[in-house]
Amino acid sequence: MAQERAKLDLNGTVVELPILDGVEGEKAIDISELRAKTSYITLDHGYANTGSCLSGVTFIDGEKGILRYRGIPIEELAVHSTFVETSYLLIHGKLPTQAERDEFSRALTKHAPLHEDVKHIFDGIPDETHPMAILSAMVSILSGFHPASLDPRQDEAQINENASQLLSKVRTIAAYIYKKSIGEPFIPPDDHLSYCANFLHMMFSKPKKDYPVDEDVVRALNLLLILHADHEQNCSTATVRLVGSSRTNLFASVAAGICALWGPWHGGANQEVMEMLERIHKSGKGVQEHIRVATDPKSPVRLSGFGHRVYKTYDPRAKVIKEACHRLVEKFGVHDPLLEIALKLEAAALKHEFFISRKLYPNVDFYSGIIYKLIGIPTNMFTVMFAIGRLPGWIAHWKEMRETKPPRIGRPRQIYIGNRKADYVDMKDRK
Ligand code: SDX
Repeated sequence: MAQERAKLDLNGTVVELPILDGVEGEKAIDISELRAKTSYITLDHGYANTGSCLSGVTFIDGEKGILRYRGIPIEELAVHSTFVETSYLLIHGKLPTQAERDEFSRALTKHAPLHEDVKHIFDGIPDETHPMAILSAMVSILSGFHPASLDPRQDEAQINENASQLLSKVRTIAAYIYKKSIGEPFIPPDDHLSYCANFLHMMFSKPKKDYPVDEDVVRALNLLLILHADHEQNCSTATVRLVGSSRTNLFASVAAGICALWGPWHGGANQEVMEMLERIHKSGKGVQEHIRVATDPKSPVRLSGFGHRVYKTYDPRAKVIKEACHRLVEKFGVHDPLLEIALKLEAAALKHEFFISRKLYPNVDFYSGIIYKLIGIPTNMFTVMFAIGRLPGWIAHWKEMRETKPPRIGRPRQIYIGNRKADYVDMKDRK
């Protein structure tokens, strides 16, 4: 069937541009030849209408609230899978056989420990440093311990080795960040524990007292990491792809992605949500006051954990996390005032014209902090948890970008709005 084409009429000059069809019926106008044919570029503030690549990793339908990793709905992975298996699915494009999964787990176990020198690096980090700053720095420095990763001509086996190193060590680094913040000795990884149980062990065990791993908590952590594992071309993943397109190494690319994720409008929102709930709780003023401020056009305050560039309905991840919150609160037999406030805030916002008219719903960050807090993870580590979860997605997209032919560095254009040509002015003549 002849390829569909779009016609663009520019002051009488008509150019035809190919139309591309996605597997799920999305449509794109391929403008790769636009500037060559017309000298025009396009402009799209925040890339809201612009595709940067063809990708087979994740599919999102923002209107229907659909999210699938390599075609598999997250609701099924949330029930049947583990974070390690979902990581394999995203990175290798298929669910692993038992042998493949065992080999992947062995690699993650092998790579869990950190080089002794890493501990000395921690000694020099100021106490007040945000965990995301430390995580990004430590991930970047991993290339110093794995110099083979610097070779831009790495083969698939070497890239997969770096991927396992990164996926495993990020857990250990995160636990060490926490231990340093509370002045406790680092706890080394335990080869006999699963990915999530090992993380909890390194976070909460003491030198003479092992953390009693609770299977419900391990399951809740697996669920959270699975739900954060990928989300197509979000800000941090697009960053990893763009930085990786210069042919820098995987560690440096992911370190950049961690910094992008840190922002309060992206992954940093989970920390913002918790701080918002705690402020409301402390104020005793109820949720309406926060809703009033968050809907005041003159106020810079937003309702953290609400709204999304793609989802114009309830974020499917938020639905699953909200149910898990209730299960864990029930299991611990606690009355969590912050969960009560979150539920009231959601109910009030979903009835409010401001949010309804803008199609603003709870996103993945709205309830996740409730679970992290119940597990004992401090608020300033919430976005580190998001980063651990997002790693397989970043790795999968980095690999996909590197396999794209022909290889191209990402380099957007611009429309210049600065000064016209001007002469240099000597200091004595300047005003
Ligand atoms: C994540 O992209 C991804 O996939 C991200 C993510 C992933 O998995 O990678 O899903 C993870 O980052 C989730 C989002 C976490 N961020 C927050 O919860 C922060 C609060 N949300 C917003 O800042 C905002 O909703 C964004 C950044 C998430 C989306 O912004 P958009 O799509 O650029 O929308 P916008 O800023 O243009 O807002 C449209 C309107 C504006 O009002 P008007 O100019 O029309 O009057 O909605 C308003 C905004 O002011 N608005 C909000 C709001 N979100 C948007 N007003 C109050 N509270 C909010 N949360």
